Amino acid sequence: SERIAKVTATTSDIDKAAGVLRAGGLVAFPTETVYGLGADAEDPAAVTRVFQVKGRPPTHPLIVHIAGVEHLSDWAEDVPATALLLAERFWPGPLTLVLRRGRRVPLATTGGLETMAVRVPGHPVALALLSAFGGGVAAPSANRFGSVSPTTAGHVRAELGDAVDFLLDGGPCEVGVESTIVDATGDVPRVLRPGGVTREDLQEVLGRPLAVHSTSQVRVPGRHPSHYAPRAQVVLVEPGTVIAEAERAQDLGRQVGVLVPPSFADAAVKAHAVVTVPGSPADYARRLYGFLREFDQQGCDLIVASLPVEEGLGLAIANRLRRAAGPRPAE
Ligand code: TXA
Ligand code: MG
Repeated sequence: SERIAKVTATTSDIDKAAGVLRAGGLVAFPTETVYGLGADAEDPAAVTRVFQVKGRPPTHPLIVHIAGVEHLSDWAEDVPATALLLAERFWPGPLTLVLRRGRRVPLATTGGLETMAVRVPGHPVALALLSAFGGGVAAPSANRFGSVSPTTAGHVRAELGDAVDFLLDGGPCEVGVESTIVDATGDVPRVLRPGGVTREDLQEVLGRPLAVHSTSQVRVPGRHPSHYAPRAQVVLVEPGTVIAEAERAQDLGRQVGVLVPPSFADAAVKAHAVVTVPGSPADYARRLYGFLREFDQQGCDLIVASLPVEEGLGLAIANRLRRAAGPRPAE
């Protein structure tokens, strides 16, 4: 059970935050997936500050958050029927569509691309902010480039602190992993990043199988191997060897954090920090980034984990664990 109280921003907080956006400032806000670092999507200077605060290269495009599907045609051009079908079925919710950029979206927001990413977030505070502001909010996850996305206001405060002009607290995020990104610009939609809307749910609506593309010509920095990484090194092993590997590394002097698979929940494990993975994929997704942050806070230098079954939300969880375990850029 969650012990963090659900703190929800007041109407007056939301009005203040909308004012900050209008003045070209940065607002961190909750979504159902992770916290976002928002700026007026039509203000290139404000968007440039988002890149600076995150330490993210300016060529990496942001997601434009809008208040409802009825506004989609104000932002994107040539929206295909399939894209509209997905938007109507899954918005508000953890689905991002890549579409052709409308004229009001500056190239600063799209990282120079002629396409844009857009979604309607499924969180009451985010929706209230978007309504009060009246425009689109360009927002990446509210973390430094390459690190783990924040799923509480406390995570944002710890990571970005004073660099943010205003922080709206909407409690812990329900979904816990980022939105599913679907490229809808071509004839056949493709998943660019697995996330909160499952591939199975998308396929059911589309009535056909959907490819998950691990590489493409499109610049998608979220798919860079070193993304979503805690400070500690992450190694992935078979579920049946997680405990043995963790204990071996701990014996060799590492400070090991272990993500114990649910089927081994009752085992006693000799390691620095031990977390039993929730049996439900939704619970695991919700808590994954919190677990990784917790291991860092406890001083772990190695995290031993296994991949969940790659279906439903397990696909997004496995994707993030693989990224976390991927090669790091030279420091
Ligand atoms: O759940 C989410 O999507 C969160 C919340 C805050 O909405 N946002 C998020 O943003 O994860 P960010 O910037 O961390 O990841 C956005 C991803 C990036 O990998 C980016 O490259 C991709 O969206 N993206 C944006 N525009 C794109 C485009 N035109 N074509 C392909 N990928 C694009
Ligand atoms: Mg991110």
